[in-house]
Amino acid sequence: MTHTRTADGDATPAEFWDARYAERDQIWSGEPNTILVRETTALPPGTALDLGCGEGADAVWLAGRGWRVTATDVSRVALERAARHAADAGVADRVDLQRHDLAASFPAGAYDLVSAQFLHSPAPLPREEVLRAAAAAVAPGGTLLITGHAGPPPWEHDHDDEHAQHDQHDHHDVDLPTPEEVLASLRLPDGEWEVQLSEEHPRVQNGPDGRPVTRTDNVLKLRRLPA
Ligand SMILES: C[S@@+](CC[C@H](N)C(=O)[O-])C[C@H]1O[C@@H](n2cnc3c(N)ncnc32)[C@H](O)[C@@H]1O
Repeated sequence: MTHTRTADGDATPAEFWDARYAERDQIWSGEPNTILVRETTALPPGTALDLGCGEGADAVWLAGRGWRVTATDVSRVALERAARHAADAGVADRVDLQRHDLAASFPAGAYDLVSAQFLHSPAPLPREEVLRAAAAAVAPGGTLLITGHAGPPPWEHDHDDEHAQHDQHDHHDVDLPTPEEVLASLRLPDGEWEVQLSEEHPRVQNGPDGRPVTRTDNVLKLRRLPA
């Protein structure tokens, strides 16, 4: 795997995220993302690709519903946790975990569902290029689901964030585009895709002090028209 160094040369994205995950036994909630559940429950199970799968909650949930999931992340620590969760859930045979720095390599194949849930990184990440590769990996008739934060969390400067789920690091250098901006950046050919959803979605999560706060997520759901 090729490594991209951060601008200051301190750490590669892999080193950054391995260190981030190693800070605690569990970083995320362990629950699948709300939007993923809402937007894929009605889809017939097929093949799925989860980009930036983290500790594997989405991949395990999809596999539990019959999907054959390829889940990828740059962090070895995260992938080890995802493997453990898949085994615990009895779906290890339906989850193929692959380590990629998506700036340098991308899982092979075409998928009925390609999901990028909060694929944000304070370490360098060419997100637009990765999302274009994500669109290219959607099989005819398949779905591309991209969810991202609409803005930084209210506790941006608070790092004592025991209970946060998705955003425990600064977003100062993280690009947080609108769904329309994401759609434009995909540069999709005319007539080949249907925009099924492009919206802002409020979501309640626990803040650093354990009290619920409402965050806004950007959601883009596209269907590649059958060939
Ligand atoms: C904000 S987390 C989201 C994790 C998960 N999708 C979720 O919703 O809980 C971003 C994830 O992207 C991964 N990531 C960041 N840069 C990456 C890269 N260049 N290649 C692959 N994965 C990357 C991180 O390791 C991390 O697991």
